[in-house]
Amino acid sequence: MDRIRIRGGHPLRGKIAISGAKNAALPLMAASLLTEETLVLRNLPHLADIATMTHLLAQHGTELSMAGEHPGGGHMGHVLALRTGKITATEAPYDIVRKMRASVLVLGPLLARCGRARVSLPGGCAIGTRPVDMHIGGLETLGAEIELDDGYIVARAPQGLLGGVVVFPQVSVGATENLLMAATLARGEVILENAAREPEVGDLANCLNRMGARIEGIGSDNLRILGVDRLSGTDYAVLPDRIEAATYAMAAAITGGEVELLGARPELMEAVTAALGRANVRLQPTDCGVLVSAGKARGEDDPGGAGLLAIDVTTAPYPGFPTDLQAQLMALMATADGAAMITETIFENRFQHVPELMRMGADITVKGATAIVRGRGGSLHGAPVMATDLRASVSLVLAGLAAAGETVINRVYHLDRGYERLEEKLSGCGADIVRLVD
Ligand code: UD1
Repeated sequence: MDRIRIRGGHPLRGKIAISGAKNAALPLMAASLLTEETLVLRNLPHLADIATMTHLLAQHGTELSMAGEHPGGGHMGHVLALRTGKITATEAPYDIVRKMRASVLVLGPLLARCGRARVSLPGGCAIGTRPVDMHIGGLETLGAEIELDDGYIVARAPQGLLGGVVVFPQVSVGATENLLMAATLARGEVILENAAREPEVGDLANCLNRMGARIEGIGSDNLRILGVDRLSGTDYAVLPDRIEAATYAMAAAITGGEVELLGARPELMEAVTAALGRANVRLQPTDCGVLVSAGKARGEDDPGGAGLLAIDVTTAPYPGFPTDLQAQLMALMATADGAAMITETIFENRFQHVPELMRMGADITVKGATAIVRGRGGSLHGAPVMATDLRASVSLVLAGLAAAGETVINRVYHLDRGYERLEEKLSGCGADIVRLVD
């Protein structure tokens, strides 16, 4: 199994091209099941999760062709054409779904287009139980008959889905996306209340409208969808990954460096910009993206300045501070001045990076959903570590970049699920980071 070795202590300086957003790309790929025409997706990131979705779609009958780099290359990414002339299988098997929870996003499109679907339950995962009750309840409101059979969601809507009002009891990105896709082909009007407002949901809705859907209220928590008979193909560029961009912003900050994030969209990163601003890290829009510069440490050339400052942050649905950045922020706070309080409100078990960060010298106390991080102004040390999920793994990369000595991160496959060419992007800015292939 591959590992990543980092020798810390090098301030990052340079430019990092931000890839297309994984969490936008996955639902957009699933949306290709809604039409028999070709959907072309540009700026698709090269990631293990994207490969998993291509396997899943291929076994439903989607023909996929990779058109390679976008003309002009660079961070414009990859182009994938998806065409599902006929859905040849309506079952999403356990073997694929268990690898990636987002596989459940095929449920809505399969049901809307074929009137039936059999999708494995995603089951538990490292960061919590993550049920799919809101996906199921929402589809039932649109007239689907759903039962659970042997670990599978078996859904039927032989006469097609109907209009209705779905009120989500809690904000869910995935349930909003599944219902949004299903609703595009419903007979009548569907209203989704308390819908997720994440930019990736908006990206999906914009693409669906380009395919002929009639969705209003994009960007709000109240989506109105007037069902249409059929959708067509289109050509669509996936939005840049705000989580990847913010992760590299924190990488620059934790090393006291300065990095320009090419292609990053500042308007999608407002909560992060505000939080990092309080921590003495500046994010400024540029012509090409966002420039990140870490505050000067006390006693350096700006004698009045401070280094990284401890801040309190609570995760929340968009536009709040993303849960997908909580682990990275914790690594950053482990090197700040003072005590930071980080509260996780989205997932119940998302502190698995804590013991690993503590092995690197971090001082963290967890009480329920809150972690108190007592920063020590940059005294982390390298260690062999491993993590159990994507964002936890990358928090260890950040800690390793700041730590004295050598850090070896095991289970690199977690990183490959969500960070395209991570070692290349970081070493291009001066990090001492290599992949050790066993
Ligand atoms: C998506 C993101 C993930 C991010 C998360 C929250 C993708 C592919 N993944 O995951 O990176 O961390 O949003 O921003 O876009 N819940 C239920 N019942 C349901 C559905 C969800 O109780 O039917 C709960 C979950 O357990 C969780 C909360 O709702 O506590 C939010 O989860 P949700 O927004 O659905 O996350 P995902 O869509 O799985």
